[in-house]
Amino acid sequence: MSDSPHHPAWFVVLLSLCCCWTVCSPRPHHPTVPGTQPTQIHLSYTGSPTSMVVTWSTLNNTASMVEYGQGDFSLRNSGISTLFVDGGKKHNAQYIHRVVMTGLKPGFRYIYHVGSEESWSAIYSFTAVQDDTNWSPRFAVYGDLGYENAQSVARLTKEVQRGMYDAILHVGDFAYDMNDKDGEVGDAFMSLIQPIAAYLPYMTCVGNHETAYNFSHYINRFSMPGSHGKDMFYSFNIGPAHIISINTEVWYLDEEGSKDKVIRQREWLHKELEAANTPEQRQKQPWIILMGHRPMYCSNVAKDCIMDESFVRQGIPKQGMPGIEDLLYKYGVDLTIWAHEHSYERLWPVYDKMVMNGSMSQPYTNPQAPVHIITGSAGCKERLTPFVPNPKPWSAFRLDDYGYIRMTILNSTHLYLEQVSDDQDGVVVDSMQLIKLKHDSYSTRSYSGSRRDL
Ligand SMILES: *[C@@H]1O[C@H](CO)[C@@H](O)[C@H](O)[C@H]1NC(C)=O
Ligand SMILES: *[C@@H]1O[C@H](CO)[C@@H](O)[C@H](O)[C@H]1NC(C)=O
Ligand SMILES: *[C@@H]1O[C@H](CO)[C@@H](O)[C@H](O)[C@H]1NC(C)=O
Ligand SMILES: *[C@@H]1O[C@H](CO)[C@@H](O)[C@H](O)[C@H]1NC(C)=O
Repeated sequence: MSDSPHHPAWFVVLLSLCCCWTVCSPRPHHPTVPGTQPTQIHLSYTGSPTSMVVTWSTLNNTASMVEYGQGDFSLRNSGISTLFVDGGKKHNAQYIHRVVMTGLKPGFRYIYHVGSEESWSAIYSFTAVQDDTNWSPRFAVYGDLGYENAQSVARLTKEVQRGMYDAILHVGDFAYDMNDKDGEVGDAFMSLIQPIAAYLPYMTCVGNHETAYNFSHYINRFSMPGSHGKDMFYSFNIGPAHIISINTEVWYLDEEGSKDKVIRQREWLHKELEAANTPEQRQKQPWIILMGHRPMYCSNVAKDCIMDESFVRQGIPKQGMPGIEDLLYKYGVDLTIWAHEHSYERLWPVYDKMVMNGSMSQPYTNPQAPVHIITGSAGCKERLTPFVPNPKPWSAFRLDDYGYIRMTILNSTHLYLEQVSDDQDGVVVDSMQLIKLKHDSYSTRSYSGSRRDL
């Protein structure tokens, strides 16, 4: 397009028409698809390799059908729709459809379309999750992705469509915010991520930008496994990993019943970790990975980082609300992934504010505490969060630019992750190999003799 002087006349006419179209014409307020047309199509994993959930929206109340198969539409399932009304003045309404695709052959590629006899979507595809604990699943991991300034979306879309990942982990904060403009920002965001989320399981975690109207946008728009519904915590197995998603907002609600919510989640997490940490279970899923939106440790210029104590880590003792760091230590959680701060930070293995390296030269080989990573800079209108100048000794690497993590669980002993900088055109700016020859409680090991009883 550099030889502009030689453009034919039609090009100039076309160009001016285009300019006029964008500059002079009013933007339609609503998308111009018929009310029966499926929009905002996204997948989520059920936890069973033979099934996958697809979720979408329509303005009209239509049937909820999906046709799918290995290169054809030989399979067909129907599901349910629920009417979701935004809490804003306009009471914008949409039907949210959920259908489980069942009978999948693990590891095989499927095509599908969704809709009803009134309107069908385009064709999408996905690969059924493998049913093999020796498989090496690959994830893109990030938090804090908005509709405006969604910087990493283009790169992620390209990489997802090239087959670089098996699932996404979105560690809280969507759209900024899904309820904004009477929910239209949520609709626009879900359409923005459709070219990602229609092709692989888009697994989520709730963040502080989802609190409006009792988290109803988050609860209605996503379909995570376990159906803990309003509690918004859940877990699933994938390959050699057990992945847990928690709700860190319970410590910040500041409303009646918050304490019950904190305690209910802790009790659930306790049982959950106990079950995941039995020798038989850890034989199958050696890696326990926990994601939550607000970090326990961080070194940004932000209230959560500057406060003396993290609520998530230590709870709010004055109000009888426990934190959860002791559980992560006791049950040998390998990796924790957080967001909320709009930056990337990797920590040395840490427990109770103490660095607990595997060894000085190989801190991530058989570490003696969980490893924490913060990745909250996929891109949003709030831009980046600066760092404090002198981080604590647990901070290993920090970078204040836009990007996301690629994580591969190589096998039962090796996990690799790297941070991609979108600002630097996709350059890998940091990486870590976590090596665990044994996965179990940290508190039963000899060095922990002096630690308080957990
Ligand atoms: C869709 O819903 C609108 C509003 O309720 C209604 O006017 C229209 O007839 C419906 N269209 C179809 C195809 O059902
Ligand atoms: C939120 O939940 C509370 C308690 O369940 C309820 O009283 C309140 O009406 C709900 N608010 C909205 C906006 O749904
Ligand atoms: C942990 O390991 C890193 C990297 O070798 C080192 O810089 C740091 O000082 C170690 N911290 C402690 C407390 O051993
Ligand atoms: C696990 O992967 C690492 C890195 O690729 C490799 O060095 C190691 O031998 C593998 N271990 C097993 C048990 O396959």
